[in-house]
Amino acid sequence: LHVSSKCISDHHLLLRRGFASEASPDRKVTVLGAAGGIGQPLALLMKLNPLVSRLALYDIAGTPGVAADVSHINTRSQVAGYVGEEQLGQALEGSDVVIIPAGVPRKPGMTRDDLFNINAGIVKSLSAAIAKYCPNALVNMISNPVNSTVPIAAEVFKKAGTYDEKKLFGVTTLDVVRAKTFYAGKAKAPVAEVNVPVVGGHAGITILPLFSQATPKANLPEDEIKALTKRTQDGGTEVVEAKAGKGSATLSMAYAGAIFADACLKGLNGVPDVIECSFVQSNVTDLPFFASKVRLGKNGVEEVLGLGPLSEYEKQGLESLLPELKASIEKGIKFANQS
Ligand code: NAI
Repeated sequence: LHVSSKCISDHHLLLRRGFASEASPDRKVTVLGAAGGIGQPLALLMKLNPLVSRLALYDIAGTPGVAADVSHINTRSQVAGYVGEEQLGQALEGSDVVIIPAGVPRKPGMTRDDLFNINAGIVKSLSAAIAKYCPNALVNMISNPVNSTVPIAAEVFKKAGTYDEKKLFGVTTLDVVRAKTFYAGKAKAPVAEVNVPVVGGHAGITILPLFSQATPKANLPEDEIKALTKRTQDGGTEVVEAKAGKGSATLSMAYAGAIFADACLKGLNGVPDVIECSFVQSNVTDLPFFASKVRLGKNGVEEVLGLGPLSEYEKQGLESLLPELKASIEKGIKFANQS
């Protein structure tokens, strides 16, 4: 009997070895703003991710309900809800990846920069808490304007003495997701096989999709490339207008956020060749932050990859985005250092 039960357990071990989930290390993921339009579906998607062992859901209101709901799903992670500032520390303690979709979204007619006054303060205080409770976590910044909120977080971390440029990411994955979808439609390529790098920043013309590097190659005419570029840049606004005052992209953003967090977790776990575009500290241009392809590893950013060859149109796009991106970065730095 003893032997046969050992055989059975060996058999289980062998079976399990096939599933990365069972062998993967404990990883705690915290979502700040988890009861919001992005936060809720993102909580759901992170609950489905087998690389997560603990999922902490934090918001200023509503998280007990979201956590109770999501916790009933029969997947690996233990879910806990935290509500109010006095529980923020617990939500963050021991976290490997912190995802931040906290803050107000756009309404029709607004730019991402119009959100600055409210979201900058939220990001500043959440970043201070991260520096205190989980200074080693990878931070995935979703809150807009990303072009400014990432520099704000960096300044807060610098002041706290915890800044590690390898661990701070502006999430631009939705721009990549959109570029892939729109390109696949025009190129008549199977969408799952499509790759398009998107560089620059995450607002209007600072979003620069590099369709000249898109695969599979389609040799689309210049006017179609321009239309695709514009649609990618205005993708967020397309959703804001369609929702007519009820917010901005939440479901596609949750998907994109889940993809990016998964890439971070894979990197932490030592999976080789994990590459995603992200807005990070960078030497690719003269600006201190820039979005480009990044190789993720055990410490976060392992390598910031260069731009590769650009078309004339993309070179122009790069030139024209730099002043706006520079101003948004400086605005964030200035905000973080006042008061
Ligand atoms: P939402 O208003 O539906 O949810 C925001 C949540 O943040 C709310 O539950 C609110 O209670 C919470 N919150 C506010 N202050 C907080 C604080 N101090 N601590 C913790 N939570 C706090 O907004 P939604 O649609 O989820 O958007 C969130 C942010 O994500 C916005 O800034 C939006 O612009 C941004 N966004 C970014 C995208 C990107 O590609 N990076 C795409 C789409 C949206």
